[in-house]
Amino acid sequence: MADITIESDPFKLARALSGRHLIDGAFVAAKGGKTFPVANPATGAEIGTAAYGEAADVDAAVAAAKAAQKGWAKLAARSRGKLVAECGRVLAGHVDELGRLIALETGKALRTESRVEASVLADMFVFFGGLGSELKGETIPFNPDMMTLTMREPVGVVACIIPWNVPLLLMAMKAAAALVAGNAVVVKSAEESPLTVLRVAEIMNSVLPPGVFNMLSGFGPECGAPLVAHPDVKKVSFTGSVETGRIVYKAAAEKLIPVTLELGGKSPMIVCADADLDRAVAGAVAGMRFTRQGQSCTASSRLFVHESIHDEFVARLKAKVDAMVMGDPLDEKTDIGTIISTSQFDRVQSYIALGRETKGAEAHVCSKMPDDPRLAKGLFIQPVIFTGMRNSNRLCQEEIFGPVCAVIKWSDYETVIAQANDSEYGLAASIWTRDLHTAMDATRRLEAGFVQVNQNLVVQPGLSYGGTKTSGIGREASLESMLEHFTHKKTIIFNML
Ligand code: NAI
Ligand code: MG
Repeated sequence: MADITIESDPFKLARALSGRHLIDGAFVAAKGGKTFPVANPATGAEIGTAAYGEAADVDAAVAAAKAAQKGWAKLAARSRGKLVAECGRVLAGHVDELGRLIALETGKALRTESRVEASVLADMFVFFGGLGSELKGETIPFNPDMMTLTMREPVGVVACIIPWNVPLLLMAMKAAAALVAGNAVVVKSAEESPLTVLRVAEIMNSVLPPGVFNMLSGFGPECGAPLVAHPDVKKVSFTGSVETGRIVYKAAAEKLIPVTLELGGKSPMIVCADADLDRAVAGAVAGMRFTRQGQSCTASSRLFVHESIHDEFVARLKAKVDAMVMGDPLDEKTDIGTIISTSQFDRVQSYIALGRETKGAEAHVCSKMPDDPRLAKGLFIQPVIFTGMRNSNRLCQEEIFGPVCAVIKWSDYETVIAQANDSEYGLAASIWTRDLHTAMDATRRLEAGFVQVNQNLVVQPGLSYGGTKTSGIGREASLESMLEHFTHKKTIIFNML
């Protein structure tokens, strides 16, 4: 494919990308000839269509990947890395374009979320591209007369199944790592957000050899399931719900192939009496991902606040969220966009209703609904901070994936650590204190894959990311995760005698 011209009108771009997969370096319609609509969640209007992927499309994409993988794996690891980094550099030139399209397709605000995600996408490719020369093995002092070593080999064709909340970043974490390690990739996008990742695939295919990176759109049972079950797919990396994660894990078990699963969370944020209140409040806003309508697996949705600062903390948190502007995701002034789909909208509303019915709980509704009549059908939900919650309430145990957080008052340190860990999830956690001993103790005891003190950062290239308990299996975004999850280790012994 030739150089790709930047298209800054996302409506035009959505139409241009409509109705196609990207297989073997070329745009193709679904074999069954079907498409499904893609909606703008800020208005409800259809912005384009996506190819309706089924088993025959999966067969074509996996066959292309299998054929291309051999040549790709034969390239010197650094040469592969250079091409992956080049994808990152070219994608960096499309940040604004990709930001606009992802804002249109997912309802995430352009300034606070969508453009940022497009930028991290590019950075993730540059990061992994630099790791080609790190695909090292070891020499082992097994026997003085023998040379014993290990080598890292690619697994073959990798399937990446991604959700709609941060499709660009999550795709990059999986695909860039898999590619550098010498694998070929078939991505299945989420049905709610198939277009921006398809644009990314088009841009990547202007750099990579055909067939190395393929993109399918479609629904879970019709397209995701045959991809996982395909005999030539040798590894699955999945991000999404616990429920679907279990289905994927079972299907992979039938074939005895490895999986990486990233399945969400209910992350605790513990604010101690001695915390820097300004920073903690800003950290709660960032951690809850209010700008993303709370649609984050890492959302710090359980806020354990010490009783001595509770009221002040809640007042400041409410004031900060009140000051955030909800509106057209494409408007630079907007802080908070929309929920992704009507089904997620209904689900979040049902949790808000449940919170309102919870005895002892009080709902603090924040910000303002947009008054622009063009957005009357938009999937906007005002953020809600519930106080008076107990950790055992369903609202504190189940992942809501919306702008709803629960504040739980605490007084005893041992009890709050126990409550923070009393969750089926274990993705992220944070503690806010100036006391080094408390910070050290809590980081050791909190049951989560990603624990932070006095901050709530998101995924960072180079830092292993993933969960414990039902939050998942395996890690992503780092060198170690690439070696562990996208390669096989081969042990080789040379007997010199
Ligand atoms: P989902 O887990 O059903 O969808 C994620 C991806 O899996 C999509 O690409 C979907 O098409 C695919 N999929 C669905 N069924 C499949 C199957 N049988 N085989 C293979 N692939 C399949 O998540 P959904 O329905 O979009 O959201 C439901 C809830 O899941 C959310 O409310 C949230 O709690 C959680 N979630 C967690 C995410 C995370 O980042 N960990 C991301 C998205 C959702
Ligand atoms: Mg689902």
